[in-house]
Amino acid sequence: MMLSHRVGRACHVLVLVLCLSTAEDFDWSANNHDSFYYGTFPNGFSWGAGSSAYQTEGAWDKDGKGLSIWDVFTHKKGKTFLNDTGDSSCEGYYKIKDDVSLIKELNLNHYRFSISWPRIMPTGIRSDHVNEKGVKYYSALIDELHEHNITPIVTLYHWDLPQVLQEKYGGWQNISMINFFNDFANLCFERYGDRVKYWITFNNPWSVAVEGYETGEHAPGLKLRGTGSYRAAHHIIKAHAKVWHTYDTQWRNKQRGMVGISLSGDWGEPVDLTNQKDIEAAERYVQFYIGWFATPIFHGDYPQVMKDFIGRKSAEQGLGTSRLPTFSSQEKSYIKGTSDFLGVGHFTTRYITQKSFPSNRGSTYFSDRDVAELVDPRWPDPGSEWLYAVPWGFRRLLNFVKTQYGNPMIFITENGVSEKMMCTELCDDWRIQYYKGYINEMLKAIRDGVNVKGYTAWSLLDKFEWDEGYSERFGLYYVEFRNKNKPRYPKASVQFYKRIIKSNGFPNQREVENWKRKATETCSTSNQLLAAEEQRNTAANILRLIHDPLTSHMEMVTEVVVPTVCTLCILISAVFLMFLLRKRN
Ligand code: NOJ
Repeated sequence: MMLSHRVGRACHVLVLVLCLSTAEDFDWSANNHDSFYYGTFPNGFSWGAGSSAYQTEGAWDKDGKGLSIWDVFTHKKGKTFLNDTGDSSCEGYYKIKDDVSLIKELNLNHYRFSISWPRIMPTGIRSDHVNEKGVKYYSALIDELHEHNITPIVTLYHWDLPQVLQEKYGGWQNISMINFFNDFANLCFERYGDRVKYWITFNNPWSVAVEGYETGEHAPGLKLRGTGSYRAAHHIIKAHAKVWHTYDTQWRNKQRGMVGISLSGDWGEPVDLTNQKDIEAAERYVQFYIGWFATPIFHGDYPQVMKDFIGRKSAEQGLGTSRLPTFSSQEKSYIKGTSDFLGVGHFTTRYITQKSFPSNRGSTYFSDRDVAELVDPRWPDPGSEWLYAVPWGFRRLLNFVKTQYGNPMIFITENGVSEKMMCTELCDDWRIQYYKGYINEMLKAIRDGVNVKGYTAWSLLDKFEWDEGYSERFGLYYVEFRNKNKPRYPKASVQFYKRIIKSNGFPNQREVENWKRKATETCSTSNQLLAAEEQRNTAANILRLIHDPLTSHMEMVTEVVVPTVCTLCILISAVFLMFLLRKRN
C-alpha cells in the first residue's frame, strides 16, 4: 500500500516535471530582433495565396445554393460596416479562369480556398439533398488549378454554416453538428479527394467560437458570454477529430492525402521579460488563443492553465462545474494526434501584462484570462485597427508552436495586411514592407528549426471582410467592387511577392531593394488607369442617382462621396509620385 502510494506520488511528480519541462522549452527571455536575414527557403517550399468562399464567391442564392448563417446575418441591418453583404463580392463563382490566371501570374505553387457547405448541401444535411451544380463548381476550380500545376489546399469550414443547422439545432452549440460536419467532409473526400491532397477541417475556430458565440460580432451573432465560446470550441474540436479519423480509416490508403486544421493566433509578448508575472500572463494569452485548440489536438486535453483559471473562476461564481467542458479519457485519446500538419494563420502581436478580473463581475472568455493587452505606438498600423505590423512576433509564435507541439509540419495558411478603403492605392508599399518583414522572420524561424513547409499570403483578392464589410482590403489584387464586372488590378505587392517566389527567398540587399523600387514604379501607371476608370464609374453613378428619386442618403455617401474621395486620393498620389520621380531624374 505504502509502496504503491509512493510510486503513485513519484509518477505524479514525474508527470508534473514533464509537463513543466515542455512548457519551459520555449525560451521567453530571448527575443532577438536580429537584422534582416538574406538567404533562401528550403527546396520545394510551397508559395501560395488564399481566399474563402463567403468572402469572394458571391452568387449567394444561385444554382441551388442554400442559405448560410453569413447570408442571414449580413441581411440584418446594423451587423456589418455600411450593411455590406457578400451577395456578389468578387463574383468569384463566375471567374474561375480569370482568378486562376492571376494565380498563375504570381507563379504560385498552391492556392487555398474553402468550400461553402450550403452550396453543395443546401440544408447542411446530406440525406436532404446534394446540390450537384455546387459540387461541379468546386470540381471545375480544382481541375483548372491542376491544369496549371497549382496544388489546391482546401478548407472545409471557413465560417459559413448552413442556416438550417443554426435554426434547427443552434449551430456549434449543439453536439449534433459533429455528425453533420462529418457527412459533409465525407462527401468532399468522395467527390474531390482524388485531386485534393491537403485538407483543412476548420479555419480559425477561435473566431467562430469567440466572435460567433461570445461577442456576437460575427454570425450567428450570439452573445453567450462565458459559456458559448467554450461550448462551440468543444464541439468543433470533436468534429475536427472525427473528420480526421474518417479520412484516416476510409480514404487515406486510397487517396494518400493529409488532413489538418488551421489555427490563428496573435503572439503575446511579455511587457517585461524579467518579470515572471508578465511571462505567465503572456503564456496564458497564447494558451487561451492557439493553445485552446492545439493542445487537445496534439496532447489530448485543454491547456492546464485554461482548466485552472476557468475552473477556479467558475467555482468562485458558485457553479458546480467548470464553464470549460471536459473530455472523457476515451475522447482524449481519440482527439490526440489528429493533425497531419498544422495550419497557422498569423497577423499581429500584443504586449501582455497581468490584470485580474474579479469573478463576481460576470464572466467572459476575456475576463477568464486575467491579462491586459498593450501595443507599442511605434508599430505600423496601416489598415485594420487591430492589425499592427510586428514581424518578430511571427518568429516567436512559430518557435512557440515548435516547442509546445513537438515540431509539427506547418503550413502558414494566412498572413497579410489590409488597407482602409478611403484612399484607393495600388502602390501599397506598406504591404511590401509587411510581407518582406514577416516572410523574413519566417525564414529565420526555419533557420531556428521550425518545420514550415509552405506560406499562404492572405489574400489573393480584396474581398468581403466580415463585419468590416468592404472597408478593409487585404488583397494582392485590388477589386473594383462598384463595377458590376468586379475587375481585378495588381497592386505593387504582386510584383514584390512574385520576386520572392522566383528567388525562393531574399538573395541580397541590392536585389531586394531593386525589387521594391521596380514594384512601386510599375504600379503608378496602373494607379492612373484605375483612377480614370473610377472617375468614369462615379460619373455614371451620379447620373443614375439623379434619375432615381428614391435613392437614399446612404447610397449617396457610399456611391458618390467615397469614390470621389478615392479618386482625388489617387490623383493626388499620382501627381506626388510624378513630382518625386522628376526630382530624382
Ligand atoms: C482571419 C480570417 O480567417 C479571414 O477570413 C480574414 O480575412 C482574416 N482573418 C483577416 O481579418
